[in-house]
Amino acid sequence: MDDNQHIIWHNSTISKIDRQQRNNHKSCVIWFTGLSGSGKSSLANALDKELFQRNVQSYVLDGDNIRHGLNAGLGFSKEDRKENIRRIGEVSKLFVDSGQIVTTAFISPYREDREQVRSLFPKGEFIEVYVKCPINVCENRDPKGLYKRARSGEIAEFTGISSPYEEPSNPELVIETDRLLITESVYKIVNYLKQQGIL
Ligand code: ADX
Repeated sequence: MDDNQHIIWHNSTISKIDRQQRNNHKSCVIWFTGLSGSGKSSLANALDKELFQRNVQSYVLDGDNIRHGLNAGLGFSKEDRKENIRRIGEVSKLFVDSGQIVTTAFISPYREDREQVRSLFPKGEFIEVYVKCPINVCENRDPKGLYKRARSGEIAEFTGISSPYEEPSNPELVIETDRLLITESVYKIVNYLKQQGIL
């Protein structure tokens, strides 16, 4: 039996468009994907700061933080990562409905999982940004010392070492963090948002 059969969707009185109009900008999800250490969190937070200063309603959902709360208990198997990304996708949709620009910083290594999230949104509301950085550069940065532990076998199923990373085939934006300054990367994203009429 379908557990949800007696649950009826309730439309809210205030629409997404009402909220966007009051905020003076459209809402969307900026979905960063890339290896651990590629710069997703740094870039997400720098972008958030810039948007905040422009009076934009924005928020960051970050892999390491969400795994402490909402997704505590999920590990790094293919299935757990899928569930991690599925939940973040649903939460992102709530943020977009609330009129905000939400930036997500998850490795999200599987193309299929990212496409599933994309399918939750109308065209233009899901902006996939590939935070591209060669693995040897990520490994040299190793901000949390995790690559070292993955190489020694202490951490299993580590993305790029013992678990796959599937590059986006058609991302809206590619940011090469080993070539651009963080301010240049932020500028590139803000420009894209303006071009798309989101800001
Ligand atoms: S995802 O694959 O499910 O999208 P997510 O972005 O939430 O991953 O979490 C990745 C973070 O968890 C990494 O930045 C790293 O700090 C930590 N981590 C711990 N174990 C692993 C692992 N086996 N593979 C990748 N990241 C790991």
